[in-house]
Amino acid sequence: MSNQGNVWEREYKDPKLVTKNEEPQADTLRFLKFLKKEEKYKIENKKILDLGAGTGRNSNYLAELGNNVIGIEISKTALNLAKARALELGLNVDYRLDDIGEEYEIADNSIDVILDVTSSNSLDENGREVYLRETSRVLKMQGYFFVRALCKDGNKNVKNLLKLNPGKEYDTYVIKDIGLTERVFSREDFMKMYGQYFKILHLEKKTNYTTFNNRIYKRDYFLAYLQK
Ligand SMILES: C[S@@+](CC[C@H](N)C(=O)[O-])C[C@H]1O[C@@H](n2cnc3c(N)ncnc32)[C@H](O)[C@@H]1O
Repeated sequence: MSNQGNVWEREYKDPKLVTKNEEPQADTLRFLKFLKKEEKYKIENKKILDLGAGTGRNSNYLAELGNNVIGIEISKTALNLAKARALELGLNVDYRLDDIGEEYEIADNSIDVILDVTSSNSLDENGREVYLRETSRVLKMQGYFFVRALCKDGNKNVKNLLKLNPGKEYDTYVIKDIGLTERVFSREDFMKMYGQYFKILHLEKKTNYTTFNNRIYKRDYFLAYLQK
């Protein structure tokens, strides 16, 4: 497993940052609402790919709605929790222990909707290249892609981290306490990167507050609704 994979595994064994919340993630629900209301798109009988599925809160929810879900996750501990929960709910989810920065064992143009809910931030640049190529390969034409990614614009905490704990690659920093490297994006950077592969239907910045080591941190995210 990659070093980042080991970090995630440790994190799920002794969580400091991740959630084991079983409710679907709020911004993901808003994206699903957008599909229903604005795009008149029914989330039922769809083939969905959840990248970095964690403990399965979004995958299990989408399976409950009657979709066919593949959840890829690098942490075995997280994946086991996701599987146990699916079993408890009587759901059939295709959970796979794999790296989203490596080629996917999924056919071309076969997926209706992809989710990346704050997962690809910890890929390195090589992994990110593969992830972009693979998501665009497996998504059907007109298929949708929801990305929730870390935003650096106007965030003092990010600015400090980039200065004090820089990672090896562009716009990365290391969260020292857990050893995790994260990539942050400016709006321009984000649009250029995803715009090469997808049409950007909607892009907004949203602020959240996270408690980490008993301190509250401001985290800014890009919420992007993309289409192939
Ligand atoms: C912030 S958590 C979000 C989890 C989930 N998407 C959610 O909304 O609950 C990021 C997840 O991505 C997973 N992850 C990070 N890098 C990964 C990789 N290269 N391949 C697969 N999963 C990865 C982590 O283990 C973690 O579960």
